[in-house]
Amino acid sequence: MNKYQSSNGVHMGKKIGILTAGGDCPGLNAAIRGVGKTAILEYGMEVYGFSSGYLGLINKEYQKLTERDLSGILTVGGTILRTSREKPFKNVDYDNYIKSKPAQIVETYNELGLDALVCIGGNGTMKTAYKLEKEGLNIVTLPKTIDNDVWGTDKTFGFDSAVNIVAEAVDRIHTTANSHKRVMVVEVMGHQAGWLTLYAGIAGGADMILLPEIPFKEEVIKEYLERRSERGKPYSIICVAEGIEKPKKGSAGRYIAKLVTRLTGEEARETILGYIQRGGSPTPADRILATRLGSFAAEKIAEDQYGIMAALQGDDIVARPLSEVAGKLKLVTDDLDMIRHARAIDTCFGDR
Ligand code: F6P
Repeated sequence: MNKYQSSNGVHMGKKIGILTAGGDCPGLNAAIRGVGKTAILEYGMEVYGFSSGYLGLINKEYQKLTERDLSGILTVGGTILRTSREKPFKNVDYDNYIKSKPAQIVETYNELGLDALVCIGGNGTMKTAYKLEKEGLNIVTLPKTIDNDVWGTDKTFGFDSAVNIVAEAVDRIHTTANSHKRVMVVEVMGHQAGWLTLYAGIAGGADMILLPEIPFKEEVIKEYLERRSERGKPYSIICVAEGIEKPKKGSAGRYIAKLVTRLTGEEARETILGYIQRGGSPTPADRILATRLGSFAAEKIAEDQYGIMAALQGDDIVARPLSEVAGKLKLVTDDLDMIRHARAIDTCFGDR
């Protein structure tokens, strides 16, 4: 029996592929390292990294990853594999299926003789991964995104790092808001989900937090800001999620800043944090989560468990069926304890 054969029948020495897809976030390299090192060192697998998400499989752009390639990347932001928002199942011509992108992916997977594919991504990636599983590929996924909106996991990695970045920005906005006695509006990413705005808003002590999941009323915004002025508060900070409903396309931050001036006559300025929220080194919490999810994924492949997403549940990493996860969004709900507690300290959500 060699190092990679076990007495409990676990099959070792497999060939696996890894890709990162969708918007990048801090922790992707930590996850790649977690999968790759566990696969190579613990299970004697061969690991191939695909370039730019699903595009790498379509275009056969990949490279074998050695343990050396995976060293020194834990703290590095972005993804060494690069990423893209390629959706291979969009506009598939079923009359000419053999030439379609999904067919090309299956071909690459078979040509390389892969035993499994690890897809690291957010909701879009989960949907595609599930479709590829139905095409016969062995899939394990890892949930990442600053939006924290992947259903089936308590947290996605990348989220904690982004919360830190936004909270630090809100801290800085406080001092300039105070100097100028202004209303400062900070626009936060998150797509349709308000998680990042909610967490960073509370962590940064925002006075008002506007989320896509909690529709606001103009009169509530007006009354709240006027009440703060009457109480002698010289400034107000509003954290607004980019995905709030508004009459026109364009920046949510700009829309709210203009609205505030129209409603109250107060001077308001917006700051759009943008891609700064996705850049840089992951926090320790994200490094740990990404490492654990990655290592767990390699373990499951060694055990021949496929069609799953590695997920955080409480303090544990568990396997969730991809069939349950794909196509579902995890959004903020108004009954969260943290919203109740924020309301209790007079944080306004614009609804009451
Ligand atoms: O999903 C992560 C995210 O940063 C969202 O918060 C944001 O809406 C979107 O990606 C931006 O996408 P892109 O990188 O394609 O501009």
